[in-house]
Amino acid sequence: MKTIIEPFKIKVVEPIRFTSDIERKKILQKAHYNSFQIDSEKVIIDLLTDSGTSAMSHHQWAAMMQADESYAGARSYHRLEKVIYDLTQMPYFFPTHQGRAAERILYGVLSTKKKIFISNTHFDTTRANIEYAGSIAIDIPCKEAIDTSSEYPFKGNIDLEKLEIHLKKYQNKTGAVILTVTNNTGGGQPVSMENIKQTRMLCNKYKVLLILDCCRIAENAWFIRHKEQKQAKKTYLQIAQEMFSYADASVMSAKKDGLVNMGGFLTMRDKKLAEECQNLLIITEGFTTYGGLSGRDMEALSVGLQEVFDKDYLQYRIKSTAYLGEHLDKLAIPVVKPFGGHAIYIDAKQLYHHIPPYQFPGQALVCDLYVKGGIRAVEIGSLMFGKSKNGKFIPAQWELVRLAMPRRVYTQSHVEYIIEVFESIKKNIYQSKGFKIIYEPPFLRHFTCKLKPI
Ligand SMILES: Cc1ncc(COP(=O)(O)O)c(C=O)c1O
Repeated sequence: MKTIIEPFKIKVVEPIRFTSDIERKKILQKAHYNSFQIDSEKVIIDLLTDSGTSAMSHHQWAAMMQADESYAGARSYHRLEKVIYDLTQMPYFFPTHQGRAAERILYGVLSTKKKIFISNTHFDTTRANIEYAGSIAIDIPCKEAIDTSSEYPFKGNIDLEKLEIHLKKYQNKTGAVILTVTNNTGGGQPVSMENIKQTRMLCNKYKVLLILDCCRIAENAWFIRHKEQKQAKKTYLQIAQEMFSYADASVMSAKKDGLVNMGGFLTMRDKKLAEECQNLLIITEGFTTYGGLSGRDMEALSVGLQEVFDKDYLQYRIKSTAYLGEHLDKLAIPVVKPFGGHAIYIDAKQLYHHIPPYQFPGQALVCDLYVKGGIRAVEIGSLMFGKSKNGKFIPAQWELVRLAMPRRVYTQSHVEYIIEVFESIKKNIYQSKGFKIIYEPPFLRHFTCKLKPI
């Protein structure tokens, strides 16, 4: 069948308020052309992030009603502990209020002296936490990832040759190797099991920790099963379990494949590392059996982490995201290929080739999407990752715009609407201009910076 049927019925609805393009122009101006500064009520389709935006199932809501909110040793903690142990087989587990709290704890502990962290690509909060702790984050995505139109199936892979060179160069200075699965910043591309295994072997050789940033582990498992022949007979859960088996520790923002609106965790195998993380957890997040979470958050997460590996859910999830990508591709919109699991990425440098990277072509598309259709997206390019060194602009590797699909939230007709908005934007592409920054904070500037059209 060609039609993708959402594998759920809708029981609760949230109305969408429609705005006109004249209203939206004013709203955007007031928000200083920063999509993070727009109120959600003024957004028609919100593709800002797939993080914390999932619709929960009735099983999750029911579990929340049975939560144990005790400070210490809550039943809800033990339920989550078991689900996470089944998945990761790691003996130490700490709940945190979201992914970056887990990152701050782990990378804070591992950043004794100035350490080097090497990754396929650090997510922005990962990089910020590493740099904030005084260490250095190096990205070495595989060569195939550079060409946004290549159909190479595992463009999330780390470059193994470069990894060995770096591990040799930074012997005794490497804090850890981090594999982000799927690679959010690099186009939502998956990492192959083979690449994870080879990374493990190099980490063994140079005695370095391997950490999985596993917030989209189920989506990555779908790609492994369908694109890596040797893995085709396994269930998605078995694939995820094997991925964890190669890691020493994991960091998860459960707001993605945990199918919850808030939550995260840390797991690890090493007792000493766990003790140090526990100290920091208690100081900054909360007691070990709740971290930053309430009992009901932990209940919802226990159920979400099981639902996410359901084959019908994953099929719908990956296919419905690809549906958007295929239709944009038919309109000759330059989309990153193959399509990612949680998002479609547009190559704004190609689409808005008249706008140079230092004028943020991605942000031009973000603003056009909002004015034309009330669609909120996010720039993942030089606004997010660009730097300036001695007054010289250093662009990001890519100028992408991410259309992140919230889980179980939008239907096929919402997607048809997004496609129509792109059709209209494409007709007037040369009317769009770039932007300049008029205010920026020292870290993670894209969240709060102010912009002005050129
Ligand atoms: C790959 C990756 N790691 C870490 C994080 C941080 O998680 P959180 O937003 O829960 O702090 C994100 C969030 O988008 C992410 O995509």
